[in-house]
Amino acid sequence: MKIWGSQQAFLWLALGSLSVGGASTFAAEPTLERWIEFQTTNSLDRVYRAISPADGALGSVMASPSRTRPDYYFHWIRDSALVMREVWAFRALRPELARRTLMDYALFSRRNQATDNRSGSAYAEGVGEPKFEMTGEAYTADWGRPQSDGPALRVLALLGLADDLMQTGQSEFVYRNLYAPEMPARTVIKADLEYVARYWSDPSFDLWEEVKGDHFYTRIAQWRALEEGAVFARKMRDPEAATYYRSEAARILDSLDSFWSTSKNYLVATRNWVGGHDPSEKPSLLDVAIVLGALHAGKPGFPFYVDDDRVIATMDELILAFEAQYPVNRERKNAEGEPMSPGIGRYPEDRYDGYSTDGWGNPWFLTTHAMAEAFLRLRTEIQIKGEIRITVLNRPFFSRLVNESLSLSRLREGDPTYAAILDGLRRQSDAFLRRAKFHTGEGGRQSEQFNRDHGEMQGAHDLTWSYASFLSLRRIREKDVNLFTR
Ligand code: NOJ
Ligand code: NOJ
Repeated sequence: MKIWGSQQAFLWLALGSLSVGGASTFAAEPTLERWIEFQTTNSLDRVYRAISPADGALGSVMASPSRTRPDYYFHWIRDSALVMREVWAFRALRPELARRTLMDYALFSRRNQATDNRSGSAYAEGVGEPKFEMTGEAYTADWGRPQSDGPALRVLALLGLADDLMQTGQSEFVYRNLYAPEMPARTVIKADLEYVARYWSDPSFDLWEEVKGDHFYTRIAQWRALEEGAVFARKMRDPEAATYYRSEAARILDSLDSFWSTSKNYLVATRNWVGGHDPSEKPSLLDVAIVLGALHAGKPGFPFYVDDDRVIATMDELILAFEAQYPVNRERKNAEGEPMSPGIGRYPEDRYDGYSTDGWGNPWFLTTHAMAEAFLRLRTEIQIKGEIRITVLNRPFFSRLVNESLSLSRLREGDPTYAAILDGLRRQSDAFLRRAKFHTGEGGRQSEQFNRDHGEMQGAHDLTWSYASFLSLRRIREKDVNLFTR
């Protein structure tokens, strides 16, 4: 499928400057703003190029074009769901193409679900298979499987399309492929919801494909999928399923509290470690997966969103750890003399250098983008509430942010410290973005990682998830443009 003719690319650029040129909100720094404009077009372009390539099936998404060292030429359920979410979120700019792309992805996902694989049988445990060949065939080599965040993320990626089709007289596609209110479940969303509701308490591999156990990231994705899935099930006149999904969602949400460690004072990534890497390889259990979970599946007004003190405390620990750990973070200013925040990695003990686990982990683009996004989302929540409570848990974070030791208190609009915090969140978000920009290659290219010592990119080149994570940040940053509805 050919997506970008030069005319189409031009149209996109024109549309981009017309309708998403909301840069004036942050007019302070032309270089950064211009780069963000460029990188938005560039990222969406590269995302589309990763979808349905000539030698892959329609609706498949390559994690990266890299086929050797490392071989990332596969359709990962997690990566593709996060990518499709952005395609859909940016649909206002390319409505027909976005819808067609999501429909292709839905049909490809249906084939995945119908394929027996090493996680198990089709429509049963096999739904937890982490990746497929780009042709749609099962991947047959050893892998960390199952990975149960995938089906949950896929539900979240497809619900917007399903709603849209129902409202625009295309319910036939929905009943046939996305959600038929009947058992056994043979439609994508319904089959994923059944899988999540039935198996969520079973251990699975984490999003980094290394540890088998119960994971915060996987659980919060499962919670949100069932929560939103229940609402959709009701609309589809499947009330018993809705009740079932909602009650499992409530149990999952309860289980998330147990990830708080009172001794460590942050949320730990994994509990009930049962396999994969050895627990001695990750004693801290400190992992950016918590922040990714809050962003990908947290819901404003609910626990474990970015304004939850437990998430804030975890963010603070992560930033401190990576700041101290990566030599590259000692460079704190870019060429223009503007501040750069630390590059963010996966977890402190990480040994995966993008090629093997004999090396040392590095900062990643998608996690650095994620931190920038979390700061902005936190800022929005504070603005909505019009107040900040400085608590024992969040005090270190906010004190560092404004460079002054805060006392336990309630700050309101009009208070200078309140204003300083809002300002600090925005400035630091931009500083994380400058960090990502600093290590980005020629033509806006982003691999998976940038080296902890010298900052050069490494690991899979043009990682599709790197671009998707930039788009996610971008739509939050320019939220007044209202690109995003669901
Ligand atoms: C590839 C995985 O995707 C990566 O996350 C992991 O660190 C290595 N394999 C080693 O298990
Ligand atoms: C390795 C990452 O750890 C994992 O999260 C991702 O799904 C794969 N690479 C593919 O990008």
